[in-house]
Amino acid sequence: MSYNLLKGKRGIIFGALDENSIAWKTAERVHEEGGTFVLTNAPVAMRMGQINELAEKTGSQIIPADATSVEDLQNLVEKSMEILGGKIDFVLHSIGMSINVRKGKHYTDQNYEFTKKGTDVSAMSFHKVMQTLYKADAMNEWGSIVGLSYMAAQRVFPDYNDMADNKAYLESVARSFGYFFGKDKKVRVNTISQSPTPTTAGSGVKGFDGFIAYADKMSPLGNATAEDCANYTVAMFSDLTKRVTLQNLYNDGGFSNMGVSNEVMEAFVASETKE
Ligand code: NAI
Repeated sequence: MSYNLLKGKRGIIFGALDENSIAWKTAERVHEEGGTFVLTNAPVAMRMGQINELAEKTGSQIIPADATSVEDLQNLVEKSMEILGGKIDFVLHSIGMSINVRKGKHYTDQNYEFTKKGTDVSAMSFHKVMQTLYKADAMNEWGSIVGLSYMAAQRVFPDYNDMADNKAYLESVARSFGYFFGKDKKVRVNTISQSPTPTTAGSGVKGFDGFIAYADKMSPLGNATAEDCANYTVAMFSDLTKRVTLQNLYNDGGFSNMGVSNEVMEAFVASETKE
């Protein structure tokens, strides 16, 4: 269902790799709500991805950019304003990657070159995106910038590895940059902390199947899907959330405030009595 919530708004969407990507679903929803945007991803990801299909479907252009390269980001911001015909109203940062996770390096045995690269891609890139937009004065007043996070920024999930630290950094950048963006340009900055979701990045986490099933059983409303996240992001881009800023917003079916659910307790007791 469409409410034209983003009619006349222009944006940039990072991170649509394939149709499972949260950014992909978001692009589809933003398009339905009347927003126009540029799609971007790392040049290497576009060779493996199906982003052309999404671009066609949403009438969008694609500009490759490695989110760790300030030069690429400057080019992206400049070209996006040309293509879209004006300043930007919304930006989705939907980027995450840990080489330690990919290579199976344990949290207590990190390769720090991998760690640095992962931090640059997953967290510092959010600062780089915002600094580029800020310096180019590319955002319209009452614009909205959203980054995607996970609750391992606050609580321990052992197999989330160094991504937990990257998410804590990402959320901090949202607050710190959000202050200056709010004061100087009337732009809001938030992170949405999403349930585990079956995507390329998500499924890379060790034991993901158990992880997602556990979260689902713990949450009174069940796990939030990628579509739920897309809808929440649309709301955050719309004028209905004009003074929501510096927040980390949970989109997780209630998981973050749970201690234990009856279903999880029953499963635990059943496994204990079996032994
Ligand atoms: P995904 O794998 O579809 O998206 C990750 C994207 O990051 C890909 O499009 C990839 O090409 C892009 N990327 C990687 N390196 C890049 C670089 N140097 N420059 C530009 N883009 C780069 O997976 P998903 O799940 O849609 O991830 C989106 C965001 O949601 C990430 O921040 C992730 O951490 C976050 N998130 C995911 C959850 C999950 O369980 N899937 C849960 C909570 C948050």
